[in-house]
Amino acid sequence: MDGTAPGRPPEAVHKGGLGPRGKGLFGRLLQGLRSAPAARQEAVTVAIASGKGGTGKSFLATSLAVLLHRAGLRTTLVDCDFGLACDHLLLGVKPALTLQQLLAGQATLDQVLCTSPCGPRLLPGASGVRRMANMTDKDLLGFARELGAVAAREDVMLLDLGAGIAPATILSMLAAEWIVLVTQPEIAALVDAYAIVKCVAQLRSDARFLVVVNRVGTPGRGELAFQKLTEVARQHVGVQLHYLGELADDSSVTQHRLGQLPLVATEPDAPIALELKALAERLTTVCGGLRQREVAAEHGVEARFKQHRLFL
Ligand SMILES: Nc1ncnc2c1ncn2[C@@H]1O[C@H](COP(=O)(O)OP(=O)(O)OP(=O)(O)O)[C@@H](O)[C@H]1O
Ligand SMILES: [Mg+2]
Repeated sequence: MDGTAPGRPPEAVHKGGLGPRGKGLFGRLLQGLRSAPAARQEAVTVAIASGKGGTGKSFLATSLAVLLHRAGLRTTLVDCDFGLACDHLLLGVKPALTLQQLLAGQATLDQVLCTSPCGPRLLPGASGVRRMANMTDKDLLGFARELGAVAAREDVMLLDLGAGIAPATILSMLAAEWIVLVTQPEIAALVDAYAIVKCVAQLRSDARFLVVVNRVGTPGRGELAFQKLTEVARQHVGVQLHYLGELADDSSVTQHRLGQLPLVATEPDAPIALELKALAERLTTVCGGLRQREVAAEHGVEARFKQHRLFL
């Protein structure tokens, strides 16, 4: 709604009985409305999260980035483990510049974004930088803007989050359209996964969670663990979780050396790589195709991030 009569150009309203001051103010308002883009093309944003640390988020996020890229989707992985980033190591990238320089205004997005050897782009995070672990409001606003700029170029934008409930981590989940919650069958990991669901659902009741149970010893244990988690989430916070699948506890993952390219690229027919491929396909289906699509400007990822920031 722009306040004009149907079929009348906005200029026509100017000719009403407004004084010079009113005209100026109203004119600026209308100009703002006219110049605001009604809609934009944007990637689907998927956050990879967990409560407990070390559940396999970065392993899953980097593997998904490679698989989605290979499926023909324009993909960027954003390393949102602020201050303790490691996705560059898992993707075989040695970045000279990171999110730290980008947010400090010392580098542009094009200078910081890198294309990993397997194809997906990476927005690398900083490692061992305390300032990044405690982002200021200015940093958060800058980050929201960069997320919007990345999303405008891609089909899918993956956010690899740090563990826990730091404000920037919760904010990234609130801004994402889908949250892949990575947990393990052990009770400690399930309790922490529930804590994340509770924190996010309190702030956004329509958050969509897709659960992956990682490091499963016996096939089928993942779904049993999911059933416990979803039952507790339904009873206590009224949230319906969705099951995306399980990944086996596989020694080839731990034996894979840091600096090597991801396992899904070096050993695409290994059992764990096939499980990951099936998971990437399910994610694509559940999310409705993971293609760039038109989004109203006020509903884009940048706007969502900024809006939720006000309620943290
Ligand atoms: N399916 C698996 N089988 C065996 N080992 C695994 C599996 N998934 C992940 N790992 C191993 O678990 C460890 C933690 O994985 P990863 O770094 O991906 O976890 P994370 O959730 O990102 O951790 P953090 O919370 O510190 O960011 C790594 O050594 C990784 O190789
Ligand atoms: Mg990680």
